[in-house]
Amino acid sequence: MAYINENYLKLAGSYLFREIAHRVADYKEKNPAADVISLGIGDVTQPLPPACIAAMHKAVDEMAAAETFRGYGPEQGYGFLIEKIIENNFPGLGIESDEVFISDGAKSDCGNIQEIFSEKAKIAITDPVYPVYLDTNVMAGRTGALQKNGHFSGVVYLPCTAENGFLPELPTEHVDIIYLCSPNNPTGMAMTRESLSRWVAYARENESVILFDAAYQAFITEDDLPHSIFEIEGAKDVAIEFRSFSKTAGFTGTRCGYIVLPKSVQGRSADGTKKSLNPLWNRRHTTKYNGTSYIIQRGAEAIFTPEGKRETAAAISYYLENARLIREGLESIGLEAYGGINAPYIWLKTPHGLSSWDFFDRLLTGADIVGTPGAGFGPCGEGYFRLTAFGNRENTKRAVERIKEKLTF
Ligand code: MLT
Repeated sequence: MAYINENYLKLAGSYLFREIAHRVADYKEKNPAADVISLGIGDVTQPLPPACIAAMHKAVDEMAAAETFRGYGPEQGYGFLIEKIIENNFPGLGIESDEVFISDGAKSDCGNIQEIFSEKAKIAITDPVYPVYLDTNVMAGRTGALQKNGHFSGVVYLPCTAENGFLPELPTEHVDIIYLCSPNNPTGMAMTRESLSRWVAYARENESVILFDAAYQAFITEDDLPHSIFEIEGAKDVAIEFRSFSKTAGFTGTRCGYIVLPKSVQGRSADGTKKSLNPLWNRRHTTKYNGTSYIIQRGAEAIFTPEGKRETAAAISYYLENARLIREGLESIGLEAYGGINAPYIWLKTPHGLSSWDFFDRLLTGADIVGTPGAGFGPCGEGYFRLTAFGNRENTKRAVERIKEKLTF
């Protein structure tokens, strides 16, 4: 019999959002008449921008004729999309075309990137955190067991709470790999230029690599917040950035994202010599991935047309207006709410010290609303709760009204 990867046994039984889906399905089965509104998983509700749809239709037609048909494309993505990404998202930052790798989304990229690092690499993650960063390192054997305090041994946790303004502080011990997400999932708070600069300086001094998840950068509304880590001087030597079209342009179902990995980012091999990480990722990507569909890449390219830009900006404003409605609704009944200004997530403090899973139950059974318990993102998320602004307007308004009516604290 084949031996299994024991590391999987260290993990919680199911992935957070599967666990929630399971609980909600159970509730619906027992309460078939319940009109459940989901503000749980961060999944978009607005259709793809018409510019993307038109581009995809055209690409489908190309697939129908022998002269324009495409089979395997470059694993790293088509030049037409990479060029548009660099031109529009990283202007003047010196990113080159072989430093961008198109993928099927940031979740896969954030989960897969750890493969190019040593099993011994010490990782630092924020707490609370998007579960993929941690779980994939557990699977790879880069952590010890889960401890009673909810932390895995061997991992450096960086608490992000109201007390520190949800900005992670530098670790007191050396770490090799640092996961940062800004604007943050789940707290909805964005890192300032100063705070990110401190991390870049730390990484440069300590030969660490920052894995910067910028999947939500399109939601930044306040001036002077960095959209890309490469806006910070010196970051091109120490950072890898993850981007996604999922939340920017509604690609959660169609799947498209990318990594920016500058050739100047290095790690050390066992004999101490410095090696660029870019060729390692290129090797990994070309070996394990056969490229994002041509049709989808044509759709993504259309985001950068004038119509595409207008349409995606409108969708983002729509979700940010939902975020405002949620945040102000919560505040109107005396709840403490964070985020929702530069991100599509609202992070609220559960009232009366309710645990976040108790609050989940209370919201589901008392108001037929699904959210995400903060504890699912790590022990520092206990006592917090996440609502997403990705619902449609009507459901968002109804959810806010129900919370105001039915949850009196
Ligand atoms: C979330 O709800 O946190 C997101 O949907 C997760 C993801 O994008 O994978």
